Amino acid sequence: MPYSRISKKYLKPRWPFLKQDAKGTLHVDGVSIKTLAEKYGTPLYVLVESEIRNRVRRFKNAFPYQKFRPQYASKCNSNLEILRIMREEGMDIDASSVGEIILALLADFEPREITFTNLHKTDQDIMFAAKVGVQAITVDSTEELARVAKVAQKMRTRIRVFIRVNPLIQYGKYTSKHQQYGIANSSVKKAIRMAKEARYVDLIGLHFHGSYISDPKVYEVAAHKIIKHAVYCKSLGIRIRYIDLGGGFPYQYNDTEVFQPEEMGKRFVKKFEEMIKKADLHPPTLIFEPGKFMVANAGIGLVRVISKKKRPKKTMMIVDGSTYAFLPDAMIYKQYYEVLPATKMTTRRTKEYTIAGCTCDCIDILARNRWLPTLEAGDLLTFMDCGAYSTVMASNFNTLKRPAAVMVKENGTIKMIRRRDRYSEMFAPELDVLKVADPRELKKFYDLTRINIDKLWNGRKKTIGK
Ligand SMILES: Cc1ncc(COP(=O)(O)O)c(C=O)c1O
Repeated sequence: MPYSRISKKYLKPRWPFLKQDAKGTLHVDGVSIKTLAEKYGTPLYVLVESEIRNRVRRFKNAFPYQKFRPQYASKCNSNLEILRIMREEGMDIDASSVGEIILALLADFEPREITFTNLHKTDQDIMFAAKVGVQAITVDSTEELARVAKVAQKMRTRIRVFIRVNPLIQYGKYTSKHQQYGIANSSVKKAIRMAKEARYVDLIGLHFHGSYISDPKVYEVAAHKIIKHAVYCKSLGIRIRYIDLGGGFPYQYNDTEVFQPEEMGKRFVKKFEEMIKKADLHPPTLIFEPGKFMVANAGIGLVRVISKKKRPKKTMMIVDGSTYAFLPDAMIYKQYYEVLPATKMTTRRTKEYTIAGCTCDCIDILARNRWLPTLEAGDLLTFMDCGAYSTVMASNFNTLKRPAAVMVKENGTIKMIRRRDRYSEMFAPELDVLKVADPRELKKFYDLTRINIDKLWNGRKKTIGK
């Protein structure tokens, strides 16, 4: 079907993969949104492979530094297919838990391509990461450093560590002063001495992660502080091989422009090299840990309108997704998602709607006061730019299944990359420990929860629970 152009007002340049057909239906890299909804059901996450690869390549090319090893922060979307793409594109992994280390290994990353960074690691976590042989464990506090030293001693194994620094910086509107991460700048020297004294600890890197950064100069300010600590390390005979400046790169989600890695890359590298030279340090490997920049704009949340509720002064459209099980950031961060009328792209937007999720909670609101065409039950809507911090943060509140996810591949095929939850696995943590029934009855119940009701109704399977 020939595509017609979407009004420039609605077609944002950040979605080069979107087109619409003459009937006003949205297509994602050539795949009709209607096909996706019919084949995989709604709500549904749709990821666009071409966009993910494009962003990774852009990020890698933006920093012309010889020893540049960016890591993908897998916490923002740890889907195995995405991890596999990251590996193919030559990214390393910033893992925030043993679970994420395991996922990275499943996606065929080498242990030395994984760094383990979070605020809390049990002794068992430390032992696991050390045995696996990750690139480094990032210690977040002096207490954690002491524990890593103790575990390493017990194992008689050298453990490579990064020290996570909170440089307590302030630049423009940005400040890290109130963030809980890392060792306060004033205590870093003490931590470095502790690491030096610990027989089985190899301090090889210094780390900073600044969360939501809107001015690229923040990275320069942080690098300046971190390099000072690297100089102190050198004075103690410790060579810092890695300087890791974390993630926090913004992505665009409304009409406000954000800085792009290409705009900061050259300048940053120049400044970084100057600082390293001035400090007379051996050039370290430079790490960044982008998460949301890589995948946020490549994700689309597809929902179906289920009903219309007229209320004084507003009309609410209820959809089959929810903040809890689908787009949690709409509630947690009051994240703004652009909403496209995916089956009515060519219809004028004459109605103002609030879009509510389907749980029994009045705060389950996905979007407020949006101008859209007149909507009816059955219409499809897309919530744009939701590729990061959605699937991984979704919960089963109201005992809802978390949705499936598909990826529109570069070759135009559709690949299911996560199926919908099953009741059997949702109930298992309780059924495993509570004797609610005779095991045979449970078995029947368990089987029942695996049955696909659509198949039953389509007459393909006639009996329940046998
Ligand atoms: C240590 C670390 N690195 C990287 C990231 C990724 O951040 P972003 O998605 O903002 O790039 C996070 C996110 O919380 C983080 O904690």
